[in-house]
Amino acid sequence: MRPVLIKVLLAVVMSLPLPALAEIAVPDGPKAGTVARKEGLEAWERMFAVVSHPRCANCHVGPSDRPMWSGESYGRTRPHGMNIRAGESRIGAETLPCATCHIGENSDVAHSAPAVADDWRLAPVEANWFGQSAQTICNQLRDPELNGDRHYTEIAEHLGHDVILHWAWDPGGTREPAPGTLEAHIEDILIWGAAGMPCPE
Ligand code: HEC
Ligand code: HEC
Repeated sequence: MRPVLIKVLLAVVMSLPLPALAEIAVPDGPKAGTVARKEGLEAWERMFAVVSHPRCANCHVGPSDRPMWSGESYGRTRPHGMNIRAGESRIGAETLPCATCHIGENSDVAHSAPAVADDWRLAPVEANWFGQSAQTICNQLRDPELNGDRHYTEIAEHLGHDVILHWAWDPGGTREPAPGTLEAHIEDILIWGAAGMPCPE
């Protein structure tokens, strides 16, 4: 085949859409500066109920490399069984990779390993939420040094496209889903952001 033809074919293949994820469209949200601080704080309260929920916090463990088992379906709060360590890689590359068990299809069988994508892993150390106060997590989320340098609209956008987030509201087994819906959570981020990302004192 002539090189130019290969180039054209490649260009066509590269422009094909990726396999569809369960993405949700992120709405525009209110304009920055048009939402009162009080309303922003109320949106934050609802956001906090989500980010502090076991379906989020079990992975957002900060500098610890131990995922957590907490929430009603786990009975009591404790580090992940089987002495699982995520290591610096956050995916257990140094010991037993998360993907050894967290792979394939999510299942409704109680206590089966959650599976959403091949890259089940702990959140970055900067996103330290487990057991943290509303004020601490709020300050982290609005600090570009700690939130992956994301504007609040980018956080909202990111969540709409993230398969793990979709899992948190449809977690399988006997797990309690995160409160509300992913759509409502994204709307709250946009309201909170438009109010100037206020945090509780
Ligand atoms: C399986 C583990 C896991 C669970 C469960 C999880 N996250 Fe995460 N989270 C991650 C990883 C990994 C990243 C970094 C990936 C990235 O930035 O693309 C991340 C990044 C984030 C970020 C980006 C901001 C930052 O500080 O880095 C937000 C916001 C977030 N998660 C929200 C949530 C919410 C809300 C839930 C629950 C509804 C949740 N996560 C549940 C693993 C998890
Ligand atoms: C040997 C298999 C195995 C390995 C390896 C493993 N897990 Fe798990 N994990 C499980 C099982 C099984 C459950 C569910 C237990 C239950 O529901 O009682 C689980 C549950 C979890 C949960 C709780 C999710 C929730 O909120 O319900 C998190 C977080 C988690 N694992 C993170 C990790 C991370 C991160 C790694 C890699 C560093 C990892 N796991 C490695 C088997 C494993």
